[in-house]
Amino acid sequence: MEKKITEFLEKAKQELATCNALKPLNDLRVKFLGKQGELTAFLRSMKDVPNEDKPKIGQLINKARQEVEEKINELQRKLEEKVLEEKLSRQKVDITEPSKVPEKGEIHPLHKVFDKLIDCCVEMGFTVVTGPEIEYDYYNFEALNVPKDHPARDMQDTFFISDNILMRSQTSSVQVHAMETMKPPFRIVSPGRTYRADSDATHSPVFHQFEGLVVDENISMIDLKSMLTNLLSMLFGENTKVRFRPSYFPFTEPSVEVDATCPSCGGKGCKLCKGTGFMELLGAGMVNPKVLEMSGIDSKKYTGFAFGPGVDRLAMVVNKIPDLRMMFENDIKFLEQLK
Ligand code: DAH
Repeated sequence: MEKKITEFLEKAKQELATCNALKPLNDLRVKFLGKQGELTAFLRSMKDVPNEDKPKIGQLINKARQEVEEKINELQRKLEEKVLEEKLSRQKVDITEPSKVPEKGEIHPLHKVFDKLIDCCVEMGFTVVTGPEIEYDYYNFEALNVPKDHPARDMQDTFFISDNILMRSQTSSVQVHAMETMKPPFRIVSPGRTYRADSDATHSPVFHQFEGLVVDENISMIDLKSMLTNLLSMLFGENTKVRFRPSYFPFTEPSVEVDATCPSCGGKGCKLCKGTGFMELLGAGMVNPKVLEMSGIDSKKYTGFAFGPGVDRLAMVVNKIPDLRMMFENDIKFLEQLK
């Protein structure tokens, strides 16, 4: 027995001396010290040792266990250190490298224009309201004096969902909701998405409009002109000149097309304004009395004016973007450069 223990100890030391990784070291620990291990086998065979030899053999086994345990623990520490060192030498930290700055979010250029329009109008006493994007024909056309067979429908290549339900082609539909639900006097603006079957560099099937409506007693063309002149100079600066040209919309009478000094060249004439120095920005007019009456407003007592710029066009002008679609491609590098 004594010899066997000494031999075991020798063999264990030799095996540990050649062990150079943590996984095989753990296998050796199980092999030498585990429940089914060799030292436990010695303990089990103690019963066959004559009584007078038991203390001596017992001591021997304990010493062997202690020695093997110490060797294994020491080796484990060394191997763990080695692993850590290897890991650290692989992961070199270059403290001179610039750190990553977290990316900052930005408001989309289109929404910046919306925000500006809203700010200016709220300052002038307007209330912001919204309306549905899926709309009845009645609100989008009929109640705006555009009956079923009216030629003005052709200009608004409308997406119909059924005979009388459509994707709104203009935010003017919100005028009707406002007139139905609000009592004059009121002044509202309504930002939102609009839809038409149209797609090229200056048209997108989804686009954006900003509708305005004022209804009160004694509202005249003077109010329309002064309010819009004010709005455009708030948007583009005090020196902005505004031009009103006669136009036609079924829901306004008289109707105007409103131009402002080209924000790109300041009126000198450039490619963007085709040399005219002016940029066509919105449609407007005095609300057609028929439209007021259809929504239950007494047109003898009340008059009103309405206006509706295309917001995508404003954003294109402000940012000098040649193709409207670039704004919706979600190219962060491009969007970051815009105002
Ligand atoms: N809804 C018209 C369009 O989409 C724009 C417009 C013109 C709105 C005149 C108005 C207005 O409120 O008075 O072409």
